[in-house]
Amino acid sequence: MITRSILIGSLVYGASVLAGDGGAINQNQDLPFKLPPQSVFVDPQSFAVMGANATFRKDFFETFNPTSTTPPFFQIFHPSFLSVLGPNPSIRQVASNSTFSFAHEAPIYVPTTDEVFFASNDGGALGMSDLNHNSVVSKISMKDVDAAIAANQSTIEVPVTTLDLPETVQMTNGGTGPYKSSLLLITSGRGPRPPSIALVNPKAPHNVTVLLDNFFGRQFNSLNDIKVHPSGKIFFTDVTYGFLLNFRPNPLMPNQVYRLDPDTGAVRVVATDFDKCNGVAFTEDGKTAYVADSGALAGFLGNNQTEPATIYAFDVDEQTHAFKNRRVFAFVDTGIPDGIQVDLKGNVYSGCGDGVQVWNDEGTLLGKFFLGTVSANMVFAGDGKLVILGGTNIFVANIAAQGIPAISP
Ligand SMILES: *[C@@H]1O[C@H](CO)[C@@H](O)[C@H](O)[C@H]1NC(C)=O
Ligand SMILES: *[C@@H]1O[C@H](CO)[C@@H](O)[C@H](O)[C@H]1NC(C)=O
Ligand SMILES: *[C@@H]1O[C@H](CO)[C@@H](O)[C@H](O)[C@H]1NC(C)=O
Ligand SMILES: *[C@@H]1O[C@H](CO)[C@@H](O)[C@H](O)[C@H]1NC(C)=O
Ligand SMILES: *[C@@H]1O[C@H](CO)[C@@H](O)[C@H](O)[C@H]1NC(C)=O
Repeated sequence: MITRSILIGSLVYGASVLAGDGGAINQNQDLPFKLPPQSVFVDPQSFAVMGANATFRKDFFETFNPTSTTPPFFQIFHPSFLSVLGPNPSIRQVASNSTFSFAHEAPIYVPTTDEVFFASNDGGALGMSDLNHNSVVSKISMKDVDAAIAANQSTIEVPVTTLDLPETVQMTNGGTGPYKSSLLLITSGRGPRPPSIALVNPKAPHNVTVLLDNFFGRQFNSLNDIKVHPSGKIFFTDVTYGFLLNFRPNPLMPNQVYRLDPDTGAVRVVATDFDKCNGVAFTEDGKTAYVADSGALAGFLGNNQTEPATIYAFDVDEQTHAFKNRRVFAFVDTGIPDGIQVDLKGNVYSGCGDGVQVWNDEGTLLGKFFLGTVSANMVFAGDGKLVILGGTNIFVANIAAQGIPAISP
């Protein structure tokens, strides 16, 4: 069994142990550090050799939880994760709907109103959207979250408000910002309606300005994710998931990363040769780009775990913004990497098959925000607050790390 050789630092999440961390420390007397609340330390050395009789994982969506700890919790693989978490971290579910994947993608934090926006699953499981039905964009108030946590409620369900958006926004799959006081959404399109990049007023009446919906007259496949580079240029990924989830026509372009110059409207390709490019993010200085390739996940074609579940790093050319010197940054152990965010210290966060995984800038896995289920994306909502989208639920982690401020707020 895997668990026999594991150094256990298990602390089961639950009301009775939320306030303390004593149980965890007692089981980890040899640790050279103090284990924070809701966390376990899994020493890579402890499972380096499992033996011929061990139970190995076969399916890439099967999770790796050798301490059998009840999610959500922090799974620490490297002591540097302690500086991400800080001395007194917590992780709580704050909203849920077991029948509706209402919180899938496009997380955006708007500081002026202290709200987080997100989109429901476009075309996927429990998304309630398909060729004939659009997905929706909703929001929660971080003030509601803070109040519920301060009141020590055992179960938190903050109100979720769905936006009434114009028809131009179809199947939102990514977002960033605020950008020029607006949400910067990227949409997959639906049927013949084109994928697009759209500015959305975060306040009612939620009016929309579409910035782009084609490449020299050709529709994109189904646009997926988007970030603003420190230069002010907008970078985005295009991939075939709309087709693979039965709500877009046959793809007519390669899966690639593009750059939009918002001042001139010019669009160009900056990276190609992906299986299925997905999340994109930059370091604070804009010199390094990360792109997730979720090739192993293929909709109606079926999953194939010998295809990529890989994050690549690139140098960003200062003149042309072409992505150069592609190298492997991380291959994720569970599921596929989806949305990516980078914190102020350069640590890289990606939504994966078991929650949010975190690497340092050298690609060393530091730890996980372990949900035991898929997270497609997450966003910092002010200093030390990470809002994690779990599809049918939303989690908020209070930690030490800070996100990169919006480029053109
Ligand atoms: C929160 O609730 C837990 C469990 O009921 C309790 O142990 C703890 O003292 C409470 N904390 C506050 C600040 O009320
Ligand atoms: C593995 O299982 C076999 C068959 O039950 C047993 O003979 C052997 O001792 C086991 N090996 C170890 C290392 O536990
Ligand atoms: C879950 O979402 C569906 C679709 O919006 C809604 O009809 C249902 O009332 C929601 N359930 C809960 C418990 O909020
Ligand atoms: C929404 O409308 C207001 C008022 O006309 C305008 O100032 C703003 O730029 C619009 N926002 C978007 C995203 O279209
Ligand atoms: C999975 O992908 C590999 C590599 O591209 C390919 O050789 C194999 O045939 C695929 N398997 C299935 C079942 O599609």
